Amino acid sequence: MNPKRRPLIAGNWKMNHGGKTAVELASGVAKLTASFDKVDVVVCPPYTALAAVVGAVRGSRVEVGAQNVNPKPSGAYTGEISPPMLNDVGVSWVIIGHSERRQYYGETDGGVADKTRAAMEAGLRPIVCVGELLDERERGETLSVVKRQLNAFSSILADKPGFGAIAYEPVWAIGTGKNAGPAEAQEVHAMIRARLREISAALADQTRILYGGSLSPKNAKELLAAPDVDGGLIGGASLKAEDFARVAEEAQRG
Ligand code: 13P
Repeated sequence: MNPKRRPLIAGNWKMNHGGKTAVELASGVAKLTASFDKVDVVVCPPYTALAAVVGAVRGSRVEVGAQNVNPKPSGAYTGEISPPMLNDVGVSWVIIGHSERRQYYGETDGGVADKTRAAMEAGLRPIVCVGELLDERERGETLSVVKRQLNAFSSILADKPGFGAIAYEPVWAIGTGKNAGPAEAQEVHAMIRARLREISAALADQTRILYGGSLSPKNAKELLAAPDVDGGLIGGASLKAEDFARVAEEAQRG
């Protein structure tokens, strides 16, 4: 971490806690992080729990994000949710381009750019995800793959240094218990920041680049110590309030 940037810890609940247990989890996170004044905390429940979670964390430090968004404002798009709908429900963040959406739902670099643009136009703060597959890493293509994914949306951020965040999530580290080492993460984060610097110094200095992929209370300290890691996007460990809060506590400690 770098003291110039306020750390951000976000929990991606994926397709878990879409009902009553969501309020319990969110309330637990709000309670356990209540005294953390040096870190931003965001929880991203499934759509069905967004309104209830927004209500449950009202008045706390915790902010709420969605896990996906359709770039169109309204219309005949069965099953989709638009940026104004997320505004209506009181959501302020949205995860875009998660590898599970790229892998299973055909999300493309172009689609990620459209969603990022639409979310920002609606005043939402995107957490845009990038990351290589295992075979891409093994072929030595990590930096070129991440650069390609980043180039698809980075020009949209040009005059918006405080837009949201970028999450580097190596796909082979997601849900596997096999996190990237601090040096592996730092190499990619540094490349992302260098690329942002080509666009503007303010964008490079202010953008929070999160690490995601088996981030947990066990490895948070060493990963958050990397100079270009500004927080985390957490899956499995965000499903237990205590574990999630312990990662946030590491960020709070700095
Ligand atoms: P895990 O923390 O379960 O590996 O998931 C990471 C992730 O995909 C967060 O978006």
